[in-house]
Parts: sequence; structure tokens; C-alpha cells
Amino acid sequence: MFTRRSLAALASAAIISLASALPALANPVVIKFSHVVAPDTPKGKGALKFKELAEQYTNGAVLVEVYPNSQLYKDKEELEALQLGAVQMLAPSLAKFGPLGVQQFELFDLPYLMSNYDDLRKITDGEVGQHLLGLLDSKGIKGLAYWDNGFKLMSANSPIASPDDFLGLKMRIQSSKIIEGQMLALDAVPQVLPFSEVYQALQTGVVDGTENPPSNMFTQKMHEVQKHATLTNHGYLGYAVIVNKGFWDALDPEIRTHIDRAMDESTTYANSIAREENEWAMAEMVKTGATKFHELSDEERAEWIERLRPLHEKMSSRIGADLVKQAHSVLGIQ
Ligand code: LMR
Repeated sequence: MFTRRSLAALASAAIISLASALPALANPVVIKFSHVVAPDTPKGKGALKFKELAEQYTNGAVLVEVYPNSQLYKDKEELEALQLGAVQMLAPSLAKFGPLGVQQFELFDLPYLMSNYDDLRKITDGEVGQHLLGLLDSKGIKGLAYWDNGFKLMSANSPIASPDDFLGLKMRIQSSKIIEGQMLALDAVPQVLPFSEVYQALQTGVVDGTENPPSNMFTQKMHEVQKHATLTNHGYLGYAVIVNKGFWDALDPEIRTHIDRAMDESTTYANSIAREENEWAMAEMVKTGATKFHELSDEERAEWIERLRPLHEKMSSRIGADLVKQAHSVLGIQ
């Protein structure tokens, strides 16, 4: 039974808790997080996990608005928007930092550099990965984390088991010069296109093929417009989660601590689901039967490596010879 006094105490406690919640709700810090992939991808799910945790840990003082599927900006525009402060957070693919003047991230695009997620962790969690994130500071950007997607396959409308099968094929690529070099090494014709335009470009024959991890291929329905794919695993596609540095530095330190925690935990989450998301996407595409998937034999794989590995040496000056050397040493590549 409530006494009048306990009711009064309850009422004032309610008012106090409402008062402490109100300023946060009335005027939350808004983080616009823009990205170009579907919500049901490793990056899409990571962004939603970050939203959930950041809002929870700051008790609503931070509001995260996630804009997937290039809804707000396409590839190149989103980086400009971040620098201008029109959005606060992005997770662009590591292959898209060249136009920003931080082409060292294209290290991740060297074909047959990393064979699996363990190799990847040695780079992202080690000195090389941290050095790369630090390079963003001078561009007014703060690098917060690496989020995984997966290893790429090649797709086209003609059989492409061998590197020789790419002669003259128009291949959509991300903006990386290393990927451009890779397609040229295959005698293909590389064409940079924003991610949002790939499906239509494949459908209308503007390009013949592309490369992507299964998760991106499936969620953008590229398998519907690609008759053949080869599981080359020739390269990696993943992300750096970045924020506008001015915005980040101006945040209340306590709020920043909560956001850091939300970022750490959503990074662990995103990286824990990437492999299975890609396996699931692959299985779904196989089920539809629209694309014929080719697995490389050992001899075929050797042929691919022989054709593409020389790019490490040939293009090392773009990334920095020392950085390539350091990555080789971490990964035990001779
Ligand atoms: C692409 O453009 O192919 C990818 O970078 C898209 C993405 O963000 O995964």
C-alpha cells in the first residue's frame, strides 16, 4: 500500500528521471551513417548493430540514422559528404580510399595477398592496419575500425575459369588502381562504376562482368544477370568504418566513450557474421541455378596466382614498397 509520502517520493523520482532523459531526447546528437549495400549484408547488419548499441549505451543521447543501399549518397559522393559534414559515419570499401588521397589502403586489393580471414586479422589488427587508419587523420577523417566482408569471385556472361578467358571483357571495378591493374593483367577492360549502378550495367551489357564477395553479388541480385562465376578468391573486400574528425573531436568525452564501446562491440559482431553471411549467400545463389559456379582445380589456381601475383611487385610503388614488404613479412609471403 502506498502512503502519500511514498507516492510523493515516487512522483518526484519520476520527474527527476524524466528530466534527465528529456534533454537527451529533445536534442540528441545525430549520427548519419550512410552506406551503399543492402541491410542484410555484413556491413548492413553491422551498421544496425552499431545503431542499437550506441543508442542503448547513451540512453538516447545519440541517435544513429542508417541509410543503406546508396539511398543518400553513392560511392564517391559519400566520401565528399563525410568531409563536408553532411553525414558523420561511413564504412567504405578499402578499395575506395584512392580518390581521397589515401591509396595505401589499396594494399588490401593486391591479388592473392591474403588467403583467409586469419591472414586478414594479421593485417587489420597489427601495425599495418593501425598505420593505415592513422593516415586518415590528415584528411579530416578518423578511422575507427575494420569490418569484414569476404573474398571475391569473378563473374561474367561467358565461362571464365582461366585468366585467358578475360580477353576484351568489360569488367566493372571499384575505384582502386590496383584492381584496375589486375583487370589489365587479365587483358580485360576495367570500368569504374558506382556500386548502385552495377546491376543495371550488367543487365544492359554496359559491362560484361564484375568481381565481388558472394554477399554483395546475391543481395544486389547480380546472379540474375551473370551466367558464369569462378570462385577465384583472388582478393578481399572489406571496410574501414570512418567518422568526420571534427564531429568526433567535438563530442562530449563521456558520449564518445559509449560510442567507442558500441563500435568495438558492433565490430566484433560484424566480423563474426561475415563468413557465414557469405556462405549463406553463396548457397542461395547456387539454389537459384541462374549462375554456373566454377571451382578452381589446384592447377587452375596456380595459373591465376602466376598471372596476378606479379602485381605485388609491379604496383608496389603506388602503395609504398615498404608497406607491401611489411605485409608480406607479416603474412609469410616470400
Ligand atoms: C563495391 O563497390 O563493389 C563494394 O565496395 C560495395 C560495398 O560497399 O561492399
